[in-house]
Parts: sequence; C-alpha cells; structure tokens
Amino acid sequence: SGYQIAVIVGSLRKESFNRKLADAVVKLAPPEFSFRQVQIGDLPLYNQDDDADPAEPVKRLKNEIRAAQGLLFVTPEYNRSIPGVLKNAIDHASRPYGQNAWAGKPAGVLGASIGTIGTAIAQQHLRNVLAYLDVPALGQPEAFIQVREGLFDEGGNIGAASKGFLQDWMDRYVAWVKKHAD
Ligand code: FNR
Repeated sequence: SGYQIAVIVGSLRKESFNRKLADAVVKLAPPEFSFRQVQIGDLPLYNQDDDADPAEPVKRLKNEIRAAQGLLFVTPEYNRSIPGVLKNAIDHASRPYGQNAWAGKPAGVLGASIGTIGTAIAQQHLRNVLAYLDVPALGQPEAFIQVREGLFDEGGNIGAASKGFLQDWMDRYVAWVKKHAD
C-alpha cells in the first residue's frame, strides 16, 4: 500500500539547489507517500544500438520507473532547456520502441534557478517531452522557484517564505497522483 514516487533530479552537482529542493519538498508529503531519487549520473549516453542489450544502470532505471506510482522531476534550466543528463535519462527509459517505462505515470515538475524566471523555459521544454511520452503532468500550480536566501532553513526544510506555496503545490501533486494511480 502507499505510493512510491521516483524523483528525477536534473543536476548531477553535489551541492545542487534542485537536489536540495527535491529533498526538502518531499517532507511536505503525507506519510503514505515515499520518495526515492533515481540515479542518472551513471547512465551511458543513449545509443540505439544498445537497445537489445542495455547496460545495468539502464535496466535499473527502467525497473525503478516501472515500480513507481508517480514521478517527480526537479530540474535546473541549462541554456533555456533541460540539462542533457536529464534528457539522456528520459530517452533511455523511453526505449526500445513500444517499451516506454514513463507512459501513464502521473508527474510533477519543479525547478529552481538563481535567475528570476526560475526554470520556466526548461519546464516548458520538459512538459513537451512528457506529453509525447504519455506522462500526465500536473498543470497547476506551476512552480518556478528562484533560489534566494531563506529558501531553505538550517535543517534543509523549505523556509517560511515559500512553505505555504510549496505545501499547496504538494497537496495538489498528491491529489494528482492519487487520481491517476487509483
Ligand atoms: C546554467 N544556469 C542557467 N540558469 C537559468 O536560469 N537559465 C539558463 O538557461 C541557465 N543556463 C545554464 C547553463 C549551464 C550549462 C549551467 C551550468 C548553468 C544557471 C543554473 O540555474 C545554476 O547553475 C543552478 O545552480 C543549476 O542548478 P543546480 O545544479 O544548483 O541544481
């Protein structure tokens, strides 16, 4: 019972703000939800020649996505799009043709950036990809998080200024996952 959520962070950086956001936001979910970050940094570059004999990290990724009832993408914006490492992971689990592991999994999209538009363009690009992959993504509320002093408190929780907004986001996300998974 309960809902297992696969969390996909689009940054490999150790001190990634987006990883911190992912770690903090999941604490706003009810206890019946459990979240696990999937590892994407050890995936090979996608090569269609390998479809018949995928590497271990590719099999692991696909199994983890398949086992999840929902997805949570938390990504930076790189050059006004999603990072290549994230697209690589998405491509891997979408193949071979007819074996798209993402299909039908309800998703939430979040992102944090130092810039004022807070990953809005990357998120739009991601939504385009997810639509093609038959992933129903929560539309509202959108969450374009600007990294500022106080976004996180000393315990790594969402700070007071953003807590109400992100709690509302999480409540909507939880309802979205339940609606699609049940
Ligand atoms: C960036 N950054 C960035 N920020 C943004 O708001 N829009 C953008 O298009 C870009 N482009 C971009 C390209 C590349 C290659 C890098 C390395 C960075 C800045 C980015 O938001 C910042 O580095 C974040 O801290 C990255 O997220 P993590 O790693 O902290 O999660």
